[in-house]
Amino acid sequence: MVTRVQTVAFLGIDAVLVDVQVQVAPGLPAFNIVGLPDKAVAESKERVRAALIASGLSLPPKRITINLAPADLPKEGSHYDLPIALGLMGAIGAVPSDAVQNFLVLGELALDGRISSVSGTLPAAIAANSHQLGIICPEACGPEAAWAGEDIDIIAPANLLALANHLAGHQLSPRPVAARYSKAENMPDLGEIRGQELARRVLEIAAAGGHNMLMIGPPGAGKSMLAARLPSILPPLNPREMLDVSMIRSIAGELAGGQISDQRPFRCPHHSASMAALVGGGLKVRPGEVSLAHNGVLFLDELPEFSPRVLDGLRQPLEAGETSIARANARVTYPARFQLIAAMNPCKCGLAGTPGHTCRRGDRCADDYQGRVSGPFLDRIDLRIDVPAVSARDMIGRSKAETSKQVAKRVEIARQRQQKRFLAHGITNIHTNAAANPDLIEKIAAPDKVSQDLLVQASDRFSLSARAYHRVLKVARTIADLAGVEKISRSHVAEALSYRLGART
Ligand SMILES: Nc1ncnc2c1ncn2[C@@H]1O[C@H](COP(=O)(O)OP(=O)(O)O)[C@@H](O)[C@H]1O
Ligand SMILES: [Mg+2]
Repeated sequence: MVTRVQTVAFLGIDAVLVDVQVQVAPGLPAFNIVGLPDKAVAESKERVRAALIASGLSLPPKRITINLAPADLPKEGSHYDLPIALGLMGAIGAVPSDAVQNFLVLGELALDGRISSVSGTLPAAIAANSHQLGIICPEACGPEAAWAGEDIDIIAPANLLALANHLAGHQLSPRPVAARYSKAENMPDLGEIRGQELARRVLEIAAAGGHNMLMIGPPGAGKSMLAARLPSILPPLNPREMLDVSMIRSIAGELAGGQISDQRPFRCPHHSASMAALVGGGLKVRPGEVSLAHNGVLFLDELPEFSPRVLDGLRQPLEAGETSIARANARVTYPARFQLIAAMNPCKCGLAGTPGHTCRRGDRCADDYQGRVSGPFLDRIDLRIDVPAVSARDMIGRSKAETSKQVAKRVEIARQRQQKRFLAHGITNIHTNAAANPDLIEKIAAPDKVSQDLLVQASDRFSLSARAYHRVLKVARTIADLAGVEKISRSHVAEALSYRLGART
């Protein structure tokens, strides 16, 4: 006889149903798992055997075969322990064999029978809900599963014994409640930044239109400080975005305590990050920083220190809004629509261009350093500015600057204008000017005659590419949106051009 328990395999952020089939047949004692298990799944039999013994059950000396179907889908991770154990318990009569047929099961087992937490509970619970199934998950993941819906059946036991008791109806474990939902608050505030009027203005434009931005300046100028304050002026995540962000975090095992928040992600990977860490992949497929920054900000500090290969690996997700990772026999896609903010020193010594400073290696110092970032990568950054150091005199003399709340209000209004315009053009999947395609941008950001002349002059003089032309128009559209005007004029185009050509690169 074959007992069956349903669980999931993760393909990107999608949870695909997997059938765990358990057969206990006469023959020489053996325990085999088939169906493309990875190492963690193959080791599962040792944990399952130990956990069952610790719970007072022993495996019969028979031939045990576990098949994970569909057999051609690779199975990764440790969450197959619990479904396998439950299948065996059903096969040997320790729980009614039909007890879990309406549930999706996932969980890792410790040797003493405890059920340890696993990643991916939220997408699994959502998949369960859409198949009209309940979910059995580790106790620690219960609050996360509860986000999937109010009427989904959830059993979140602490150990195998508690689960067996619940299924037999002896001692019911309570349904977990959804973890706290936290509002975006206590973020670092723009009001703490003195001076840097240009950088603040450009940060506001970046926030309003979702544009990528690069800051070049000496150490201590406040570049990292400015970048960290971008989330505080971005509008909070809407429920749909919040769900996507939380699903990616859940898969990556970063949804601590099942807490979800409407604050936009802000990721700042170290410059030693590998390709797998940044774009995803690795031994066990996992979303990279670009996906964890989905719907939020990816901050690359000390840009030229990143490996050039890794930076060029970012070009594809920057363009496509997702990453595709090829595996032996599957292709895994994670969403990765993020806003890129980068910061760098002008040269290795950090002070090139500062009045009174000469690098020991002369102009080559700055050229070599900046040359480490490729042209095609830079081409995708619309706003490039110099951020000069603020002197102590400037810091002391200044009155308090505008707070994030005041700036966020303007950003919100500018975003609403964009949203309304996109809707008027029948477009629902684009929310910011930065995400608009060339066709659309020519429609919504048509420059007037004088602005056209300016663009032609600039493109002759600085040999702007076709992509640069559209990107200048996008930024001009955002500048006009911040100003609350519909028609793009020369001053908007001029300002947009200055950010494209302004910095030293
Ligand atoms: N414009 C500024 N206003 C207020 N404090 C500043 C400013 N610029 C720099 N600082 C101070 O200098 C420190 C270093 O700033 P940081 O953002 O790390 O510089 P960078 O990233 O450009 O090297 C900050 O923690 C802050 O104390
Ligand atoms: Mg810094």
